[in-house]
Formats: sequence, C-alpha cells, structure tokens
Amino acid sequence: MPAQLIDGKLIASDIIREVTDQTRTFIGRHGFPPGLAFILVGSNPGSEIYVKMKGKACEEVGFHSVTDTYPESVDQRTIVERIRVLNADRRIHGILVQLPLPKQIDEPSVIESIDPAKDVDGFHPYNVGRLVIGLPTLRPCTPAGVQELLIRSGYDPSGKHVVVVGRSNIVGKPVANILLQKQAGANGIVTVVHTGASDLERYIATADILIASMGKAGSINGGMLKPGAVVIDVGINRVEDPSAKNGYRIVGDVDFESASEVASAITPVPGGVGPMTIAMLLRNTLQAARSIARA
Ligand SMILES: NC(=O)c1ccc[n+]([C@@H]2O[C@H](COP(=O)([O-])OP(=O)(O)OC[C@H]3O[C@@H](n4cnc5c(N)ncnc54)[C@H](OP(=O)(O)O)[C@@H]3O)[C@@H](O)[C@H]2O)c1
Repeated sequence: MPAQLIDGKLIASDIIREVTDQTRTFIGRHGFPPGLAFILVGSNPGSEIYVKMKGKACEEVGFHSVTDTYPESVDQRTIVERIRVLNADRRIHGILVQLPLPKQIDEPSVIESIDPAKDVDGFHPYNVGRLVIGLPTLRPCTPAGVQELLIRSGYDPSGKHVVVVGRSNIVGKPVANILLQKQAGANGIVTVVHTGASDLERYIATADILIASMGKAGSINGGMLKPGAVVIDVGINRVEDPSAKNGYRIVGDVDFESASEVASAITPVPGGVGPMTIAMLLRNTLQAARSIARA
C-alpha cells in the first residue's frame, strides 16, 4: 500500500493561521506587532528568494519586517554594527542573517553578535546549549519543523528508533537533539549517521523514523528502508530536467517513488519540510516578541 503523504504545505498553513490569530492578540495586548529584521548579503539568487518569501510571510501574519541588503564585498564590522543597532531596537524582536555569508565574514562571530533573545534562527551558542540540555529556547526552524510534522501527523517519536542522516549544525545535530529530549513529542532513540559510517544502509534499515538531511539527490531508496518506516526528507536538491521550464527540478534525498511503496508515511519534496521552515520562523518570532515584551 502506498505511504501516507505528510503534507507540509497543509500543516504549515495551519501553523501560519495560528500565528496570525495569536499575532492579533499580541497586538491587542501590547499595541505593536512582532518585528523581524533580515540581513541579506550579496546577490545569491537562493538567498534573495528565501528572504523575499520570509518577508512576504511576515506581512501575511501581521508582523513588522525590515530587510537590510549589503553588497558581497561588505566587511564584517558593518554587519556586526548593524546587528548591535537591531539588538537595541525595541520594534525588532527577531534578527535573521541569511546564510551563507561571503568568505571574508566569520559566520560564527556574526551569529554570536545577535542578542540570543532575538536569535529566531536558533543558531546562537546560548540557544544551542539550552536546546541540548533540554531547556526552553528558540529552536532552529527546519529541525523544529521536522518535529512538528511528526507530531501533527500522529507519529510520536517516543521509543522509536530515529535515524538522522547528516550532522550539520543547521539540520542534523539540532533535529537529533530535539528528538532525543525526555519530553513530549520527542523521547526518540536517536542515531546520527554521517560520512564516517562505512555502512550507511545498515543504519537506515533499522529506522522506524528516518530523517534524511544529507543533501544528496535521491540517494536513499525504498529497498533500503525498514517496511513501515516514517520518512522525513529534508533534502532540497536541483537535478537537471530538460522537460522542465527552467531546465531543472527540485528533489529530496529520498527516491520518493520507491520509498513510498515501502514507508508507512513520507514527506514530498517540494511541499514537505520546506514550507515548515518559514512557519516555524514566524512562530519563533512571535515567541521572541512575547518573551521580550514580558521582560
Ligand atoms: N527544507 C528546508 O527548509 C531545508 C533547510 C536546510 C537545509 N535543507 C536541505 O537539507 C539538506 C542538508 O542540508 P545541510 O545544510 O544539513 O547540509 P550539509 O551541511 O551539507 O550537511 C550534510 C550532512 O550529510 C552528511 N552526508 C552527506 N553525504 C552522506 C552520505 N553519503 N552518507 C552519510 N552522510 C552523508 C554529511 O556528513 P559529514 O558531516 O561527514 O560531511 C553532513 O553531515 C540539503 O539538501 C539542504 O538543501 C533544507
């Protein structure tokens, strides 16, 4: 039987509706909207599109948002000084520096200059540390979106063998840390696999829940899965497709067709994890605005 489709677009739109309602209440209580500032450096087309989409989403839910754009050649001091101004700006509750940054800029230093209370990407070491030890915090958006997809589709990770393929700081490590916490919606038995594994298939074959975040198009197929596994495909990869208008199409790390014959549930790409990232960013910004307004 083909797998159930975990519809990220639908779940993200539910979250966006919730954030819109809660934003109305926030504005009623405080007299101002949550505010989110974007910093965009250079002219990477992907980054430009992401920031545009995030800005549009802010508008939809009733947030105030600003975007500062800088040329590729900008120096680190200029960015850090701007972040200091935003840290002190009472209308701004979230600061998002669109990554990657050009080579002359040290990303960790830039991230550390953001006030952790406004770190809506959840990348500041202060928030990462709180996440690891299980304290409430601003959590990275894509990993938090993965957990939300599981919970809202009825796939509780508690007691399940969760295999995360990939250990990046933005996806693999935080998703593993979120799902292993002794908390509701988590409590998984988590294995993290990376290129150090000599036998990737051995780990994948034991996954009740597989989270693919390796950035390699279609590299996990149905034959590798445990029958009935729940598959969350974080990968976003461009593959050539002469029949497509722009010459390429977007696919995940999992071969959807074969995997959906073996899995019990699976996210599509696009339309799975992708839409959740923006929804969780909006939720994080509202959370930050509430905490700052309370302080
Ligand atoms: N849906 C969204 O909103 C969203 C957000 C962020 C990222 N993504 C996508 O998610 C994917 C991963 O992103 P990322 O930033 O985490 O990528 P990344 O920084 O390139 O990390 C990839 C990870 O996968 C591991 N890996 C690669 N090939 C492997 C293999 N053959 N076997 C085992 N492990 C392997 C790497 O291991 P090593 O550490 O050993 O090198 C690394 O830890 C990308 O396709 C990206 O576009 C999607």
